[in-house]
Amino acid sequence: IHIAAFREKLMAWYRLNARELPWRGIHDPYRTWVSEIMLQQTRVAAVIEHYHDFLSRFPSVTALAAAPESEVLAAWSGLGYYRRARMMHKAAQVIAEELQGALPESSTELRKLPGIGEYTCAAIASISFGESIAVVDGNVERVLLRVTGRPEEATAAGRDFVRQQAAALVPPRWVRGGTNAAGDHNQAMMELGATICLPRGPLCLQCPVFALCRTRGEHPTPPRSKQRSL
Ligand code: ADE
Repeated sequence: IHIAAFREKLMAWYRLNARELPWRGIHDPYRTWVSEIMLQQTRVAAVIEHYHDFLSRFPSVTALAAAPESEVLAAWSGLGYYRRARMMHKAAQVIAEELQGALPESSTELRKLPGIGEYTCAAIASISFGESIAVVDGNVERVLLRVTGRPEEATAAGRDFVRQQAAALVPPRWVRGGTNAAGDHNQAMMELGATICLPRGPLCLQCPVFALCRTRGEHPTPPRSKQRSL
């Protein structure tokens, strides 16, 4: 991949086309954490329905830590996969008791907390703190396999390759006046996978990195009625 060209085209597209989601443009790492945990196994529409309610009941790490588990689980209802809520509650207690209520600012430290794995620590560290670390979710994986012309089967070698590509693409740390290069790049990659580089029927003609893609236009397009509206 031509790294500089890819980054520039991706970011120019993202600036104009990013969906306005409730967790975009937020500067509270706690809120970013909540959104990224919710988004892992739940559709965007369902997350939007619960995100604000959850945060008004638990507006801070310390509020979450102090709540009984039963209340946290009740506020999670509708999102499913309750283990995520239990782990987040536990992590909040660690942060409240041992870290003065402030989330750690590096991916390495974040990763030590319950329920925060490879994806979540990279998402929080880059989006909230500007760390130059790649976020790889299913969307990003699909985008990179297609752009590089690798087979889309999920093999261990394929996953390693994707991680290397993702790491090479993420820009160096640069945070200034509301601009966060690594965090915005990661969100743009996920956004491209979620709205253009769709699993079935990708919208290649609208893709900002069409010219750089090895498999552009090769994926079958389902009938119009089955295409997702944006
Ligand atoms: N999916 C999960 N987190 C996301 C984010 N921050 N931006 C876009 N898509 C996402």
